[in-house]
Amino acid sequence: MGFYYENLLRPLLFRLDPEKAHDLGVTGLDYLGRVSFLCRMMERYNAIAGAQPLELFGLRFPNAVGLAAGMDKNAQFWRATAALGFGHVEVGTVTRHRQPGNDRPRLFRYPEQGALINRMGFNNDGAEAVAARLKATRRTRKNYIPLGINIGKSRVTQLDQAVEDYLTSFNLLAEYADYISINVSSPNTPGLRELQNKEHLKSLLGELSQTNRQRAKKLGQPHTPLLLKISPDLTFAQIDAVLEVIAEYNIDGIIATNTTVERKGYFATLQEAGGLSGLPVHKKSCGVIKYISLATEGHLPIIGAGGVMCPRTAGETLDAGASLVQVYTGMVYGGPFFAKQIARSLSARQRDWV
Ligand SMILES: Cc1cc2nc3c(=O)[nH]c(=O)nc-3n(C[C@H](O)[C@H](O)[C@H](O)COP(=O)(O)O)c2cc1C
Repeated sequence: MGFYYENLLRPLLFRLDPEKAHDLGVTGLDYLGRVSFLCRMMERYNAIAGAQPLELFGLRFPNAVGLAAGMDKNAQFWRATAALGFGHVEVGTVTRHRQPGNDRPRLFRYPEQGALINRMGFNNDGAEAVAARLKATRRTRKNYIPLGINIGKSRVTQLDQAVEDYLTSFNLLAEYADYISINVSSPNTPGLRELQNKEHLKSLLGELSQTNRQRAKKLGQPHTPLLLKISPDLTFAQIDAVLEVIAEYNIDGIIATNTTVERKGYFATLQEAGGLSGLPVHKKSCGVIKYISLATEGHLPIIGAGGVMCPRTAGETLDAGASLVQVYTGMVYGGPFFAKQIARSLSARQRDWV
């Protein structure tokens, strides 16, 4: 399958503007998600024989590979992701207010470097519309893989109103989520990454955590796991501060990492503004994961994202201390069955350990 993508489909798709190619992919997967018997057939075909499910924050993941936030921003095709071999899917980033994002062009490919740069700016339909879509499609949810919903700050919302903005999205979306990912790390919304600073983070995570636990108590069910998604550009001192806040509010896990704004060495020529992903961010993401894993003595669950482009880079992400990986750029270059390839390699590693 990978052969056909690389030699037939990818050359055609890569002739298109990157965002048009993306939209075409979303439309195709949206249609696929509506045909449940086809999804079930593909899911069976893509299932990894002998894969050990993983338990994390009370959820059961059929394999270690998830779709990272940003590809299914509006929860349009999440139903098709199990058919592609994913073990979980994160939709979003969803913001309280519907917003168009930045002007186009805002997505750039660098095949030689195995990289993308994006400055999408959280283009999305808004929390209310995404909640309505999830409500309508939930009952057709037969193929169960955990569904994460990633929430972020609306562009029009000032930083001092950010907590309210996140809370509104949380309240609209929590009932559809197996976990909520709190995005404070995308570089394309002015001020967003400042929410990683200790004082901002304390009020944000404090309020979200309290609301989440009150909601769980009221419904008499376990709380929805909350995960924080962080930037690879934090210093170790800044990571220490983040970890303190995470511990204070019993946040369930961390997603490390988002895209980087740094351009260094071989990648210094990639000068478009925005977040750099793929191979150039891999070493940085692994550095952050390793630091967190050591600092927390492996007690804080980590989902590793950043430059998982092949079985080797996926293995390195787990070696650094992640329990699961997420992919975005790797799928753009590797095609629709990339998840299966990575999941199979990680499952083989698991068997080798046993
Ligand atoms: C085009 C594009 C859009 C993205 N949009 C989001 C987003 O909306 N929210 C988010 O948390 N991360 C977003 N990301 C970051 C990815 O989820 C991921 O953390 C990052 O790209 C590193 O993984 P990768 O190297 O496998 O791409 C986006 C990445 C790309 C390439």
